[in-house]
Amino acid sequence: MNSSIESSRPSGSSGIEPQGSAWGWRPFRLCPPDERPPAPRAIDTREGVGDRLRTAAFAELQAREAFAWAAGRYGDAPEGLRRAWEGLAASEHRHLLMILERMRVLGIATDARPVSDALWRSLTACPDAASFARWMRRAEERGKTAEERFAERLTGSDPETASMFAEIAREEAAHIAVADRYFPERGLSGGECPA
Ligand SMILES: [Fe+2]
Ligand SMILES: [Fe+2]
Repeated sequence: MNSSIESSRPSGSSGIEPQGSAWGWRPFRLCPPDERPPAPRAIDTREGVGDRLRTAAFAELQAREAFAWAAGRYGDAPEGLRRAWEGLAASEHRHLLMILERMRVLGIATDARPVSDALWRSLTACPDAASFARWMRRAEERGKTAEERFAERLTGSDPETASMFAEIAREEAAHIAVADRYFPERGLSGGECPA
């Protein structure tokens, strides 16, 4: 496994420019920016579970990098929020390792299918702290809902993966609460950052 994923991160605020593509997201394999990744296969197959694990792992990696990047990027973010983002980067790192370990146990290759870095690209295009926080909140809500659904669906066939997804979903609720604490506005337009 590539050491840039597992050992040296989260690095905290690493600079102003987005760094995600600088090391190519290895060992994940990216699809071209103007293409969508292949749809996941049926969830009642090993390949389908693997597709969901791979997508979830890559979402955690993008979230980790984005939180660490945001902590150094947004001068308009209160100091407490920057520190909170660094903590969330560490939490996303832990989620990533949990999923990678599950993939290892199940024999799911990280690079077997391409993934999209659209989440990272859209987050790092956000112009200020509030829009970043709201856009990320939206992504985390979406991820939490998907993980809860996977947990429910897999509880009979793969209880270990199911409980892992349930645990991550619970922690995502705490991440969402951070965004709500600093930027409590609801009814987000979704149009503040490019998707
Ligand atoms: Fe996460
Ligand atoms: Fe999160």
